Amino acid sequence: MKPRKDLITIGSLSDEEINTILDSATAMKDIFTKSVKKVPALKGKSVLTLFYEPSTRTRSSFEVAAHRLSADVTTFTVGTSSVVKGESVHDTIDTLMSMKMDYIIVRHKNSGIPDVIARHCKAAVINAGDGAHAHPSQAFLDAFTIREKYGTVAGKRVVIIGDILHSRVARSTSTILQRLGAQVAYMGPGPLVPLQAHTGIPRFTNWDEVFDWKPDVIYLLRVQNERIDTPFFPAGDYHQAFGVTEERLKIIDDLDLGIMHPGPVNRGVELCDAAMEYRNCLVCNQVENGIAARMSILYHLTPQTQNND
Ligand code: CP
Repeated sequence: MKPRKDLITIGSLSDEEINTILDSATAMKDIFTKSVKKVPALKGKSVLTLFYEPSTRTRSSFEVAAHRLSADVTTFTVGTSSVVKGESVHDTIDTLMSMKMDYIIVRHKNSGIPDVIARHCKAAVINAGDGAHAHPSQAFLDAFTIREKYGTVAGKRVVIIGDILHSRVARSTSTILQRLGAQVAYMGPGPLVPLQAHTGIPRFTNWDEVFDWKPDVIYLLRVQNERIDTPFFPAGDYHQAFGVTEERLKIIDDLDLGIMHPGPVNRGVELCDAAMEYRNCLVCNQVENGIAARMSILYHLTPQTQNND
């Protein structure tokens, strides 16, 4: 496999790269579930997490992943940095690169910023979510979770439900699942679901259509209110129309469907409380697998930073 410096989108990866990263994630999961959870693969390397937007899962899981590979990890906290004094992204990166970082993991509200940083510096850059554009590490952990649960991704049917339009997760996860041979459909409020003519992906607007399609997994998304000027629905109305209510959960249970969600979950909006306890709820599996997937991503990237030894 040709060395790759950055991970910005799933679309930029070859099939071989996707499969190699997924296969290695299985080995990585073996490592971090053992009593000694560390390997020296990135010993002496410096990893920086640079998050201009909030995160619980992605940042902490990249940091745990980097520690498991024995890298040194620095957390850049935007809110207490010179960014609040007006420092540009370029100047921040130049400053941090003077500190010889090998990997930069970046989240930003503007699409394209991780790509700009990747072109600007020799560190390996990982897109940890940019605007409504892409979230490739989420896509890897989602594909890994489906493969772990069902033995394969090929042939599985996954409906992604909610605010597709503003969702970087929908974009990246539907891309990787299709590349691995799954069938993907979208369901949600009309204005928030792109037309099939634009994506080639079947588009539903209600649960009856979802159940008729006979999915294996339903994948709920959070409504991205931070990317919408005026909310489309009161939360209760949204839950009744598009969420997993207690009544729908009974059907989901009868049909033995898996439930996924990238988090953070808004209980009572996308999922009722009981859905989080449901036997096929894979939300915690996704979080656990995030570490394995991110260890594998870090392991397979090749920074172009130079050392004098
Ligand atoms: N799934 C996800 O990106 O979660 P965080 O926003 O907590 O990182």
